[in-house]
Amino acid sequence: MPSQPDLFLEFLNQFEGKQDTIRHFQAPARINIIGEHVDYLGGIVLPAAIDFSIECLIRPKDNNSIILYSSDFDRKTEIKRPFQNSKEDPWSDYIAGVIHELESLGHSIPGFEMLIKGNIPQGAGLSSSAALEVLVGYSLSTVFQIDLTRPEIAVIGQKAENNFVGMKCGIMDQFVIANGKKDHCLSLNTDSLEFNYHHFDLGENEFYLVNSNVKHSLKDSEYNTRRQECESALAKIKRIDPKITNLYSFSLDKSEWKQFDFTEDETKRVIHVTTERERTKSIIRTLSSGNYAEVGKFLYECHWSLSQNFEVSCEETDEIVRLLQNRGALGARMIGGGFGGCVLVLDKIANFFKTSVELEKSYQQKFGYPVKFYKFKISDGVKEIIHS
Ligand code: GLA
Repeated sequence: MPSQPDLFLEFLNQFEGKQDTIRHFQAPARINIIGEHVDYLGGIVLPAAIDFSIECLIRPKDNNSIILYSSDFDRKTEIKRPFQNSKEDPWSDYIAGVIHELESLGHSIPGFEMLIKGNIPQGAGLSSSAALEVLVGYSLSTVFQIDLTRPEIAVIGQKAENNFVGMKCGIMDQFVIANGKKDHCLSLNTDSLEFNYHHFDLGENEFYLVNSNVKHSLKDSEYNTRRQECESALAKIKRIDPKITNLYSFSLDKSEWKQFDFTEDETKRVIHVTTERERTKSIIRTLSSGNYAEVGKFLYECHWSLSQNFEVSCEETDEIVRLLQNRGALGARMIGGGFGGCVLVLDKIANFFKTSVELEKSYQQKFGYPVKFYKFKISDGVKEIIHS
C-alpha cells in the first residue's frame, strides 16, 4: 500500500482541487473459521476480519456527478442514473449497486469523487467485493450523514451484490467486514443477525492462508446453483413439515429422509449443511478451551464435506489440503465460496517454514504454477482513518 500522502497525491492528480475536504476510509478482508455455505440457509458462521484491505478517498462535489477512479485498474469512470452494469469497469458495479440500494431506501446521494485502492487478492475467496460494498456504504453514510448501523450497512452491501451484481451471496462477508473486531472472531446467526465476539489466543499456533492461484468468479460459478439446490431441498421438507423454516434447523435422522424424495445432489447438499451445524457447535466450544488439535480435526472434516458433499472445491485446493493433512498440519480447509481461491491452515508456528517449502515444491511440480502464502492479523471492521 502506498503511504497516505501518496494516496492523497494520487487523488489530487486525478481530480485536482483542494485536499481539505477529502476523507479516508478502509475496509478489511475476511477469513471464515467454520460455517461454510450456510449463511444463506439461516446457519451460524464464525468469520473474522483480517488486515488485507481496500481503501477509498472521497470528496463531495457541488453538482450531482459521481466520478470514480480505481487505482488498481488505472481506470476513471463516471456512473450515471439509472445505473447499468458496466462492461468496461465491472468493479464500478459494486459501487453503483450500493448507491442504488441506499436510494431505494429513500436516502439521497449527492455527487462525489472517489479513489479506490486495495491489496486484497481478487478471486481468492477473501471477499474483496464485499469489502468494496461495505467501504462504499460506510463512507457514503458517514460523509453524507445518513444514520445507519453497521449491520444495516452490511445488509445494504449484500443486497447490492444480490440485486445489482447478480451473485446471490449470503450475509457473512459484509457482516464481518462491517462489524469485525481486532483479535476476535464473531459467531453470527445468519437467521436473526444476532452475534457474539469470541476472543481467541492461538498461543504457539497460527492461522495462515495458502492461495491456490485458481481464480474463482462467484458470479459465474456454481454458487447460485448450490443455493437453488438447497432451496429445492427445503421446499420438499416443508411440504411434509411446514414448521421447518430454514435448512439449517432441519435435524431429522438420515434414516427418515426417504419421505422427502431428495435428488442425489440435494441429499449431498443436506448432508453438508446438517454436519456443518455440528462441526460449528464443536469448534465454538473447543476454540475457547484452546484445544487446537480438535479444532483442526473439524477444519479437515469441513473441507472434505465441502469437496464431496457440497462440491464447491477443486482439484488444486483438495491437493493443498491433502498435502497438509499428510504432513500432519493441525487443520486446513478451503474458505469462502470455493471453486479455487484460498485454503485456511491452522498449524504450529514452528512448522511453517518446512511445510511451506515442501508444499510449494509439490504444488508447482503437479500443477506447473506456484501457490502463495499469506500471514495475517485479525483486525477491526470498516473504519475512517483520521489524519491530524
Ligand atoms: C461467499 C459468499 C458468502 C458465503 C461464502 C460461503 O464468500 O459471499 O455469503 O456464502 O461464499 O460460505
